[in-house]
Amino acid sequence: MNSNLLFEMREEGIGILKVNRPDALNALNTETLKEMLFFLENEAPAKHFKAIILTGAGEKSFIAGADIKEMQEMLPLQMLRFCELGQKVSLALEKAPFLTLAAVNGYALGGGLEMALACDFIYAASNAKMGLPEVHLGIIPGFGGTQRLADAIGSRMAKELIMSGRTFLAEEALQMGIVNRICTPETLLEQCIATANEIVKSSFIAIQQAKRAVNGGRHMAMAEALEFERNMCAVCFGTTECTRGIAAFLEKRGSR
Ligand code: COA
Repeated sequence: MNSNLLFEMREEGIGILKVNRPDALNALNTETLKEMLFFLENEAPAKHFKAIILTGAGEKSFIAGADIKEMQEMLPLQMLRFCELGQKVSLALEKAPFLTLAAVNGYALGGGLEMALACDFIYAASNAKMGLPEVHLGIIPGFGGTQRLADAIGSRMAKELIMSGRTFLAEEALQMGIVNRICTPETLLEQCIATANEIVKSSFIAIQQAKRAVNGGRHMAMAEALEFERNMCAVCFGTTECTRGIAAFLEKRGSR
């Protein structure tokens, strides 16, 4: 594995990807972002993973944002390239042909929350602290956060959080619909694994198509999105998993 990442295979097809820079609270520098991109676009699909859980090494932080020390040396054009890279990583999480779960185990600030927002689900530890505090540094979120936070909670709430840069705790994130579930810090990873395990028991093609239909349809007009959805559904219908699932149900054997 790469130097800034740790990977652990947990169950069949389910792995844990840890950003491993605990001394910098797992802040994302260029090197780490490049390693994440390579892992998500090349290594994980080649190994046919069904679910990847993204988390941070250590007990204090998921990802405390983009690396501010590295940013301090950048010129505007270098910042543009840095944001491009960060956006490629968040897009790779969003479009991954497998389930992506963020296990937010502490600080998820700036680029950290932006990575979590690109995952399919977010589970947060009860001690997690989140926010997009970039305005306090005189910038704005540049790894996809302005768009994905607005998608998650609506533009009015997103603008308040982004413009104030205020941080918030797991409970408020749950109320706003930013996270799916709150877990104790001790059970966070196990709960992510249990959910992933339960999901991947169903037809994997159906899981992939569901992800594509929801993500892809979001930016289409309704008529186009519905056409997209029915095409995705028809693709599932041609699979052995579907034939077996329907037969099992009709023979009263349960559909799994
Ligand atoms: N980039 C680079 N280094 C970071 C970092 C970041 N985003 N966040 C934390 N670190 C480093 C600190 O500089 C410190 O390094 P040092 O020991 O070499 O000084 C180390 O991680 C520990 O952080 P520290 O600030 O001492 O911990 P804390 O518990 O007092 O505070 C935070 C934790 C998360 C509240 C604080 O580190 C912070 O505000 N980080 C920046 C968050 C942010 O603005 N993110 C958006 C960036 S665009």
